[in-house]
Amino acid sequence: MAIKEILRMGNPDLLKISAPVEKFNDKDLDVLIQDMIETMKANDGAGLAAPQIGIFKRVVIFGFESNDRYPDAEEVPFTVLINPIIKPKGQKKVNDWEGCLSVPGLRGVVPRYDSIYYEGYDEQGTKIERDVDGFHARVVQHECDHLDGILYPMMIEDFRYFGFHDEIFKE
Ligand code: NI
Repeated sequence: MAIKEILRMGNPDLLKISAPVEKFNDKDLDVLIQDMIETMKANDGAGLAAPQIGIFKRVVIFGFESNDRYPDAEEVPFTVLINPIIKPKGQKKVNDWEGCLSVPGLRGVVPRYDSIYYEGYDEQGTKIERDVDGFHARVVQHECDHLDGILYPMMIEDFRYFGFHDEIFKE
């Protein structure tokens, strides 16, 4: 188990499409997930996708109780989500600020579906099915985009709302 280096935007590996996990209850999978948890915690993140640490498998983790990087965000249960599928519920999208550990120091406003259904599996292969909205829905959409090589700046529609965290949220 180890804290891994996080690939940063500009590294072409972040644009790769990750492959589905085929084997659950697997030592390599468990090590990957432990590394992801340690890396996310060490960086005070709200979520992390396997490709961000250079493993191109469809595995994301997310969740937090309270987070200095998102002081106003609601709590999201800690979740390991493998081979996820997202289905939007309705067409409504909402704009809000996002950050990403692969894009350090920056924030941007990104439209996301307000309400989604998602499913996937935990590391034992147990199915997860949830209907969520708000920040939980946003985090899942953000993390799952990483599995298809999409970083949040690619989704920004108005670049007036993209910049350095310290400037945007200056007292
Ligand atoms: Ni990210």
